[in-house]
Amino acid sequence: MDTLIKTLKYTEEDEKIYQIASKVIKSGGLVAFPTETVYGLGADGLNEMAARKIYAAKGRPSDNPLILHISNREQLKELVFDIPSNAEKLLDHFWPGPLTGIFAKKKSVPYSTTGGLESVAVRMPNHPAALKLIQTAERPIAAPSANLSGHPSPTLAQHVIDDFFGRIDMILDGGAVGIGLESTIIDFTSEIPTILRPGYITQNMIQEIIGIVDLDPALNEIHTENLRPKAPGMKYRHYAPKAELIIVEGSLDRVVEQINYLAAERMQKGERVGVIATEETKNLYDADRVEVLGRRDDEASVARNLYRVLRRFDTTDINIIYSEAFSYEKLGQAIMNRLLKAAGHHKIIV
Ligand code: TXA
Ligand code: MG
Repeated sequence: MDTLIKTLKYTEEDEKIYQIASKVIKSGGLVAFPTETVYGLGADGLNEMAARKIYAAKGRPSDNPLILHISNREQLKELVFDIPSNAEKLLDHFWPGPLTGIFAKKKSVPYSTTGGLESVAVRMPNHPAALKLIQTAERPIAAPSANLSGHPSPTLAQHVIDDFFGRIDMILDGGAVGIGLESTIIDFTSEIPTILRPGYITQNMIQEIIGIVDLDPALNEIHTENLRPKAPGMKYRHYAPKAELIIVEGSLDRVVEQINYLAAERMQKGERVGVIATEETKNLYDADRVEVLGRRDDEASVARNLYRVLRRFDTTDINIIYSEAFSYEKLGQAIMNRLLKAAGHHKIIV
């Protein structure tokens, strides 16, 4: 398959590009596009066959539901039954933005989109290209992150090209995304709204608006029969680089010391060692490759670079990576959730 790649200029000239892209969507094809969180792999969300194409292209298990992306609140009413008042408050506050709500679905939403569930995930992204594409296509667009199943999510069009060139119809290159981690998912079908996936909109920010919010207890734990995450996608190993990844957690001095000790041990055995560090610590390591996520005192910079750094290691011969840990507070909750998953929960506490 030929993949058409178009670079957005964010001027009126883009109009033609959106016309082409929306024709592809309307005829059941696949278009990757930027959002403020990560790139999405879009298809007509109400077309059963189009949604199936997404699963096939990603190699995604069919029980893992997709998020429907909309461009206005009216569209939400056509997709879901009940919008509880807590949901209304949060959507008023955070939409368009990196918050996905889970609601009871209406008949119009095909089971191929929801992985067979009676509920549906909906988000209004805060990105001009995403909103314009949805408007032009005149329908909700189903879009998972535009990565092959198991790979880190794409934060640049190049990541999408690496995973999907020749396998999808079109890629809209809108530049680097702003946030770099997928949206916060909140389940409004439970009595107390529950966070199923932490993201840029933090538990504290949600609490400030509606007072109370639960956190899926299966997050950040090794999953067992009795402790299974409520978002089906959260149970898969994910975001994983090809190299073994181990997180080292503790006071920063001891973390640096321990990583250097472990790195030296491995390098002596002839292994190629990488370190995931921060601006504050990057000069303290002795390893074959040191990648910097961002500044510890600016966790948004860490979030923005996480997937790019994980993907970059895949282009090297590094076979073992040690990463610093972050706090579990605020945005750190989402960062640690993704890092732990990428590491298959392999963590050393010092
Ligand atoms: O930021 C984002 O949310 C990005 C951009 C493209 O919008 N999209 C994204 O989609 O991360 P995806 O498919 O990679 O992740 C969707 C997550 C999966 O973990 C899935 O299991 C969960 O949402 N999900 C979708 N529908 C659900 C439902 N009805 N109930 C519970 N979890 C659901
Ligand atoms: Mg994903």
